[in-house]
Amino acid sequence: MGVRWEFDGVLVLALLGLCLCAAPVCEGGITSSYVRNKDLVHDMPLDSDVFRVPPGYNAPQQVHITQGDHVGKRVIVSWVTPDEPGSSTVLYWAENSELKKSAQGIVLTYKYFNYTSGYIHHCTIKDLEFDTKYYYEVGNGNTTRKFWFRTPPSVGPDVPYTFGLIGDLGQTPDSNRTLTHYELNPVKGQTILFVGDLSYADAYPFHDNTRWDTWGRFIERIAAYQPWIWTAGNHEIDFLPESGESKPFKPYTNRYHVPYKASQSTSPLWYSIKRASAHIIVLSSYSAYGKYTPQYKWLEKELPKVNRTETPWLIVLMHSPLYSSYIHHYMEGESMRVMYEAWFVEYKVDVVFAGHVHAYERSERISNIAYNIVNGICTPISDPSAPVYITIGDGGNLEGLVTDMTQPQPSYSAYREASFGHGIFDIKNRTHAFFSWHRNQDGYAVEADSLWLHNRYWKPSLSMTY
Ligand SMILES: *[C@@H]1O[C@H](CO)[C@@H](O)[C@H](O)[C@H]1NC(C)=O
Ligand SMILES: *[C@@H]1O[C@H](CO)[C@@H](O)[C@H](O)[C@H]1NC(C)=O
Ligand SMILES: *[C@@H]1O[C@H](CO)[C@@H](O)[C@H](O)[C@H]1NC(C)=O
Ligand SMILES: *[C@@H]1O[C@H](CO)[C@@H](O)[C@H](O)[C@H]1NC(C)=O
Ligand SMILES: *[C@@H]1O[C@H](CO)[C@@H](O)[C@H](O)[C@H]1NC(C)=O
Ligand SMILES: [Fe+2]
Repeated sequence: MGVRWEFDGVLVLALLGLCLCAAPVCEGGITSSYVRNKDLVHDMPLDSDVFRVPPGYNAPQQVHITQGDHVGKRVIVSWVTPDEPGSSTVLYWAENSELKKSAQGIVLTYKYFNYTSGYIHHCTIKDLEFDTKYYYEVGNGNTTRKFWFRTPPSVGPDVPYTFGLIGDLGQTPDSNRTLTHYELNPVKGQTILFVGDLSYADAYPFHDNTRWDTWGRFIERIAAYQPWIWTAGNHEIDFLPESGESKPFKPYTNRYHVPYKASQSTSPLWYSIKRASAHIIVLSSYSAYGKYTPQYKWLEKELPKVNRTETPWLIVLMHSPLYSSYIHHYMEGESMRVMYEAWFVEYKVDVVFAGHVHAYERSERISNIAYNIVNGICTPISDPSAPVYITIGDGGNLEGLVTDMTQPQPSYSAYREASFGHGIFDIKNRTHAFFSWHRNQDGYAVEADSLWLHNRYWKPSLSMTY
């Protein structure tokens, strides 16, 4: 096998294998020569600056926002008050307006074993103008705090928009470096697509939910100002029947609300949104996805609804990757791949982002949908209609990096490296988007891996690989 080079729509097979590979058979792409140690890192201590409780009686904390409808005219604002319920009202006003409007939210609490949550508020603010900066205020009563966000432009085919990609974040010094690198990246992400595994509170005895609170305070510095689009990971399951906690996803679904009803979903664990020129489908690796299940039936109806004239970019988020060549979690996404990969190819999904594996990896455009149990056709092949699969589970949690990889690098794997970092998916227009991966060891502007993606619907013939 050689290395595929592509220029002006012409696929050239350059037989450079012998030059580029030390091994006699060069199957795949690049395995980075960066070597990281496997040391576990610990969570930042409870008295760390990033976990500081805001001053003032009953001051709102853990403020975070997400999209609140299908097109981006609503925002869900969530926060926690520690001492008493206080107010669930959000005051908000457009940057150039004196008129303050108010929206009424709800407040809830939950218990988990012997932990009782603070007062968790969720308030949806509606009828926002597109592409407008809004200020908002929470905690009207004792201690008020003010933040701002910018709504996305109206949904449309050539609307540029920049998404950040973060996964498996946790709350270690590495997690803090990942957020800092995202903040200081000269390419400014406008919304974070989060691919699951948030706080890792389940690493503590009885899943000590105070670590959900510290995590909420840790991410506030970004999550109060731009939406995070949530995907559930295995660390959100919090299944602990021996301690009386047998309802999966309890802390996660109480704390992180999503607009699932806007896409006719029956569960917050799978849903879709449209934002600018992207249609984003969020799936749950840890909910039933076999034939006839609610998630299967929802996805079956959802994919034909995607209008590529309106939203050229079709992005899928899930936690467990369908293609990964790391040894840890190897083939855990296989049964979902068997169920959904053929649909991803049929509907020309542009890119599938996943986490779970604590490292970075990018695939070729490949599919493996021919196998029918006896025909023996069970090897991924180059497929121009297939998505690129990107694993971005490298946020930096307390479990550390995974470094062991299958050898040799399989042909479906284009680039892999065990380092912490984040991604940027920068949509330019209906045909072109630029993806870059930024490792935490580098300067803020450095792209450790990058590629142009040509839209599968609008530019399908330009490139076999991308
Ligand atoms: C919950 O129970 C554990 C184990 O008995 C104990 O260590 C912890 O302090 C308790 N937490 C609260 C908030 O009571
Ligand atoms: C908080 O606000 C309530 C209602 O306005 C008031 O009764 C209470 O005294 C305030 N508490 C503190 C500590 O300021
Ligand atoms: C986290 O990062 C921020 C920004 O770089 C820094 O100010 C802060 O001291 C860091 N905190 C910890 C505990 O690493
Ligand atoms: C798809 O979107 C375009 C642009 O908004 C619109 O003109 C067209 O009617 C839509 N197609 C369908 C089938 O809804
Ligand atoms: C789309 O963006 C790419 C990359 O910036 C650019 O080369 C191309 O000309 C743009 N297409 C149109 C129609 O503007
Ligand atoms: Fe995970």
